[in-house]
Amino acid sequence: MIAMRDAAHVLDHPLAQSFLTDVRDKNSDRAIVRNRIRALSVLLFYEATRDLPQEPMTVTTPLADTTGAHVGASVGLVPILRAGLGMVDGILEFLPEARVYHLGLFRDEKTLEPVEYYSRFSEHQPVDIAFVLDPMLATGGSACVAVARLKKWGVKKINYLGLFAAPEGIRKLSEAHRDVEIYLGTIDDHLNGRGYIVPGMGDAGDRQFSGK
Ligand code: PRP
Ligand code: URA
Repeated sequence: MIAMRDAAHVLDHPLAQSFLTDVRDKNSDRAIVRNRIRALSVLLFYEATRDLPQEPMTVTTPLADTTGAHVGASVGLVPILRAGLGMVDGILEFLPEARVYHLGLFRDEKTLEPVEYYSRFSEHQPVDIAFVLDPMLATGGSACVAVARLKKWGVKKINYLGLFAAPEGIRKLSEAHRDVEIYLGTIDDHLNGRGYIVPGMGDAGDRQFSGK
């Protein structure tokens, strides 16, 4: 059995705690939830890109030539629809050249199994590094399907970025795909009988896009 903290990198920062608290709060409106998810996504991406390959280059400042570096790999962001959409824009401010490949998955309410309804990435050349974006790692079924689809496409390096995770989901993803690095905002207590993360944030798609 993989110990949870060893299987995932978890954000450890007072700002992350504050943003997660706002997202959890059922009294936070859509604007707050979106704003905090965007900020948390940037913090996660920052942590998950520490070993991004670099390409050295020379630039000329007003005073002298000097050496620097830009990102030396093609990067793909893979938001899982709908809820992962809210994690894209903040990250793109930091890496505007990243490609974005949407993956449409929903959970069957009875079986909790993921059902795919949209993907087009196999029409393109695989990226060097992919970041799966989804705020909720619940049973882990959606994450495993996403990673399997990216591997079949030919991606060699895959990172998973999530905000709220249940131990069940971390276990499933890390045991099925040991090569995938998992970055999380927090590890929650358990899944309830309907497959919701407790305490979690409720329905991540509704809270960002269509709830009251
Ligand atoms: C949610 C969430 C994940 C999935 C996680 O999506 O955004 O994709 O559930 O659950 P799992 O780990 O048990 O697979 P949902 O199916 O509710 O779709 P939505 O984002 O369109 O609302
Ligand atoms: N999907 C959600 O939106 N919330 C959960 O808690 C679990 C899956």
